[in-house]
Amino acid sequence: MKRPFAGETPGDDELLHYITTEDPAETEELFAAARLVREEHYGRDVYFRGLIEFTSHCKNDCLYCGIRRSNSRTERYRLSPEQILDCCRAGDGLGFRTFVLQGGEDPWFTGDRLCAIVRDIRAEFPDHAITLSVGERSRESYEALFRAGANRYLLRHETADSAHYAAMHPAAMKLSARKECLYALRDIGYQVGAGFMVGTPFQTPQCLLEDLRFLRDLRPHMVGIGPFIPAAATPFADYPPGGVDLTLRMVALVRLLLPRTLLPATTALGTLSPDGREQALTAGANVVMPNLSPQNVRPLYSLYDNKICTGDEAAECVRCMSLRVRASGFVPAMASRGDSRMPLEAAAEDRKISA
Ligand code: 5AD
Ligand code: FES
Repeated sequence: MKRPFAGETPGDDELLHYITTEDPAETEELFAAARLVREEHYGRDVYFRGLIEFTSHCKNDCLYCGIRRSNSRTERYRLSPEQILDCCRAGDGLGFRTFVLQGGEDPWFTGDRLCAIVRDIRAEFPDHAITLSVGERSRESYEALFRAGANRYLLRHETADSAHYAAMHPAAMKLSARKECLYALRDIGYQVGAGFMVGTPFQTPQCLLEDLRFLRDLRPHMVGIGPFIPAAATPFADYPPGGVDLTLRMVALVRLLLPRTLLPATTALGTLSPDGREQALTAGANVVMPNLSPQNVRPLYSLYDNKICTGDEAAECVRCMSLRVRASGFVPAMASRGDSRMPLEAAAEDRKISA
């Protein structure tokens, strides 16, 4: 079988070719190569993360996002520190070894408050991974949170093309600031997750090529890739959603470019297609993030419309995801923290494609 960019670093033309291909045989080659590379580095294990969406307040105004500041039609909530801890306890009981605390950029959660929450979780769960996903903050704040016990940080770059970034965000938000945050986080010692949406308004294949080039430079431990899905009462409400096939090709390409990065099968993929997450696993993804948020607030964390898993109990989500993972031929690895095997230094072997 022909292997996409076997044994060499792909050039821009080749990447653009695979970004845009609609040839089913070529796409299958791409997915098969990505599966192989992922199996080489992570076997068939799929890691589980317990996602706690702890606040839907946000001071930002991203044009695509359902919880943007200007959306007066969405009901806001904020979990108390004690409720967040309770979610962790419930998650631990279900077997999770990673908690992901995600929220909008909510000024109520000052550095001090967040540090106190992280310290409390760390004290009770010394061996668990604590992942934060709370947006852009100062380097000092990232350092304090790291010292408090957080070890991973997710901050999607959303798009690595600065003109495209400007078309998706208010003028006050800059791609350069986002990138600085990501490099600072990596420098401090976090396992860092970047990522982007596929099919956002005004995105071109060239933008996606920029995403790949940026990721090759940043070398994050994790890359979250999901299709854009319109959210009601946002400026992008009437744009079409991103393509599932294109999203899957981007997952596979990132697996080939960064063989040891972690790749989640995202909820947005599952929202657009009933087997979207399973398809992502077969295109090189190896992480799932079932929801641990209290059931009553789940529908309110509405980044986009028709989000799945908003009605289920946490235990039900875990059971459902385990079944889906197994049915796709993979092994749910709940008991593992699932740390990234991404080497800290840029290893030549990773720059070369090991397909
Ligand atoms: N469609 C898909 N993904 C979205 N996100 C925010 N809004 C949308 C949307 N309308 C994603 C962003 C963000 C992550 C938490 O959710 O990539 O980083
Ligand atoms: Fe909250 Fe974009 S609207 S970070």
